[in-house]
Amino acid sequence: MKTAEIREKFLKFFESKGHTIVHCSSLVPSNDPTLLFTNSGMVQFKDVFLSAETRPYSRAVTSQPSIRAGGKHNDLENVGHTTRHHTFFEMLGNFSFGDYFKHDTIHYAWELLTRVYKLPPEKLIVTVYYEDDEAYHIWNHEIGLPLERIIRIGDNKGTRYASDNFWQMADTGPCGPCSEIFYDHGPQVSGGVPGSADESGDRFIEIWNLVFMQFNRDVQGNLKPLSKQCVDTGMGLERLAAVLQHVHSNYEIDLFQRLIAAAARETGISDLAHNSLKVIADHIRTCSFMIVNGVIPENEGRGYVLRRIARRAIRHGYKLGCKHLFFHQLVKDLVNEMAGAYPELKLEQQHITDVLRQEEERFSGTIEQGLSILDIVFSDLLARGLTVLDGELAFKLHDTYGFPLDLTADMCRERGINIDQVVFNEAMKRQREKARTASKFQMAQDISYIGGKTIFRGYDTHMCNDAKIVAIYTNSITVPLLQAGYQGVIVLDQTPFYAESGGQIGDQGTITSSTACFTVSDTRKVRANVVGHHGILEHGELKVGDIVSACIDVRRRTRTARNHSATHLMHKALREVLGLHVQQKGSLVDPEKTRFDFLHNKPLSNDEIYNIEELVNAEIFANTLSIAQVMSFDNAVKSGATALFSEKYVDEVRVIDLGFSRELCGGTHVQRTGDIGLFKIIFEGGVAANIRRIEAITGDNAVRYVHNLESMLSEAAAVLKVRPIELTPRLAQVRDQLKVLKKELAQLRSKFATNSRDELLNQTVDVAGVYVLAAKLEGVDVKTLRETADELKDKLNHAVIVLASVYSSKVSLIASVTTNISKNIRADELVNFVAKQVGGKGGGCSYIAQAGGTDPSQLPEALLSVKEWIRARL
Ligand code: ALA
Repeated sequence: MKTAEIREKFLKFFESKGHTIVHCSSLVPSNDPTLLFTNSGMVQFKDVFLSAETRPYSRAVTSQPSIRAGGKHNDLENVGHTTRHHTFFEMLGNFSFGDYFKHDTIHYAWELLTRVYKLPPEKLIVTVYYEDDEAYHIWNHEIGLPLERIIRIGDNKGTRYASDNFWQMADTGPCGPCSEIFYDHGPQVSGGVPGSADESGDRFIEIWNLVFMQFNRDVQGNLKPLSKQCVDTGMGLERLAAVLQHVHSNYEIDLFQRLIAAAARETGISDLAHNSLKVIADHIRTCSFMIVNGVIPENEGRGYVLRRIARRAIRHGYKLGCKHLFFHQLVKDLVNEMAGAYPELKLEQQHITDVLRQEEERFSGTIEQGLSILDIVFSDLLARGLTVLDGELAFKLHDTYGFPLDLTADMCRERGINIDQVVFNEAMKRQREKARTASKFQMAQDISYIGGKTIFRGYDTHMCNDAKIVAIYTNSITVPLLQAGYQGVIVLDQTPFYAESGGQIGDQGTITSSTACFTVSDTRKVRANVVGHHGILEHGELKVGDIVSACIDVRRRTRTARNHSATHLMHKALREVLGLHVQQKGSLVDPEKTRFDFLHNKPLSNDEIYNIEELVNAEIFANTLSIAQVMSFDNAVKSGATALFSEKYVDEVRVIDLGFSRELCGGTHVQRTGDIGLFKIIFEGGVAANIRRIEAITGDNAVRYVHNLESMLSEAAAVLKVRPIELTPRLAQVRDQLKVLKKELAQLRSKFATNSRDELLNQTVDVAGVYVLAAKLEGVDVKTLRETADELKDKLNHAVIVLASVYSSKVSLIASVTTNISKNIRADELVNFVAKQVGGKGGGCSYIAQAGGTDPSQLPEALLSVKEWIRARL
């Protein structure tokens, strides 16, 4: 059974059992600050489990692309070393939200595996959570599985809920005991049953995890029961395919075999079993899917994970002896394999290829040097019988040669070398600090909130007078009250504060009661539809339950709204001026500016920038009303609204009509386009392959910018004593004059040099048979001094020449000696002898040397002293 067919059968089976086939969610979780990447099928349902969100169905089935390369579930290091780990895989899953529970879950799983996929029942064994008697009973009595094939697991560390067979997506969030189904690949493969000492072998492979979602874990680790019992299951498509295709390794299934063949073709190697090919085949999937989801290689956050994985693949290409750029060539093969199920791969094929090629180019500039440093260090360690690599070196490789630390660790692991853990961890810590300060999405991470939604009133008002405090947090811990001087996060039942999202930054303002005042410095989502007000209590005391007045900084919001609305108009204008390929790749809107990244393959010309500004400003001057409507996603797209790829999974969306633009957006906007005032682009540049960035300003910022330009222009005009309008022709005139003057100067210089050379020759004196010249030249630079000295030397045999010049109180000296006498009279000694007298020093060799000095007043004396110095040496 081909991989595509296996996927299809899974979805159809659960559809026949009343499940709705739900589209997978974006790999970059849009509303979840606790996750870097979607790591399983349940991520998009997290809030449904928590009863914070409802869906029109209570049973769902999905096939979900997942990434496990960072965070709680991380398989990066295992890829290439085991037969069944991937950084990217597809997870098949069925879900119940307060509908069926353990009984149906287990029965469905058994039916699908044994009747649809026709796996022999005797090849399957299961595990249950050690105290889950109910699941144990269902497997034994209802399914008829013999007791020796049901293993209780979970208490082996002596900690309740802290071990295997208890699944949770991240450190906090929904979780519960699970029952796992294993396939026995047979006694010819080594490995023991789950829970045994050699369980990590390849004989018994987990194919399906059935999680009985029952709890929500908070920051302190406490488990709170969910209001309804739910089910979350996950089966790795690749593992199942391996079983159904009768192979032992995921990398032997149809899809991977073709990707591995493609990797072999591009790297030019014939050994298809080479581990590096597996790594490359795994990584091309991960990298391509990340890029499709809007991630680009960067030095922090998600972009850094992408960079690490791409570089790891490139390094494995090097290991295979492949010195040319190869990785991006695999994108087309991946598209052939997977665009059937994921059409966006085909749509973005060129973009993915370009981004990866650029990353390869970047890394190839330094990989060779880095690798050769490591090679030298490795052989040195080997020669000395040592097995520990200096952690600082690992860090330097990262810093200077772009070797992510885990890449170096990977290479060490291949050679049985360890990295100095203490130093390595220090470096890791530094790096993590950097990543944390750079990425804001970590901030709300630790707050575990289980109350209701916050009603957002900020579209219509700047102030809520009767908001109720529903939760307070200090240091991520829930507290009943906040005292003056303390920082905290406040959750209200309703708020006018906009929480950072969709590129628009969070509001600032105040939350006050009759006795207390809390300054809000930032607003972020605690989770979808729950707003966290971050700030400090200036005075008084605030308690959960207090009724407060929440008021945003209106001026700041107004400026932000102007920039946000201008972003929509600019997006539309970009598509009109540059073409429909322009697609938003990222944006940041704050009170100062809008920063907009988009797909386009070359710099914008001045004309294009001008046209965009003109289109946007025309919409501003038209002063049309902006309209916001809520509608279904399908209707929104049908009506021509621009939607981002990551938005396509939301059922209901808000559509903003602004001038000639129509976009999906949850942000806050101006009432009429005229409120934007004025639009001005102030920067255009590239950020990654095919991604351009524009920064623009509006309203009072734009007016101030124009004022500043005007005063700069006036000042420049005043310097040249013309009116601003005459500046350009006047500057052209000055430039031409300068050209003429430069030419004249050069002519004069050379004439002057010829004259002075003749004059200098006349000043030469004979000291015991040696021509000696020590003279000062007016107004010449060191280069001319040196040239003059060379020319004079050519004319004289047996000569010592010292030339000096003074320029802005600094002395320059050149000493030049014909080689036939430079043994006795060294130019470097001579120049220092003179330089010392004028407060300086210098250097050179026996026949030519140069020096500088700071005391021109001593120069005449110093030059006079040359003769005596020479005489003493002859
Ligand atoms: N969410 C569960 C897992 O990933 C099914 O294993």
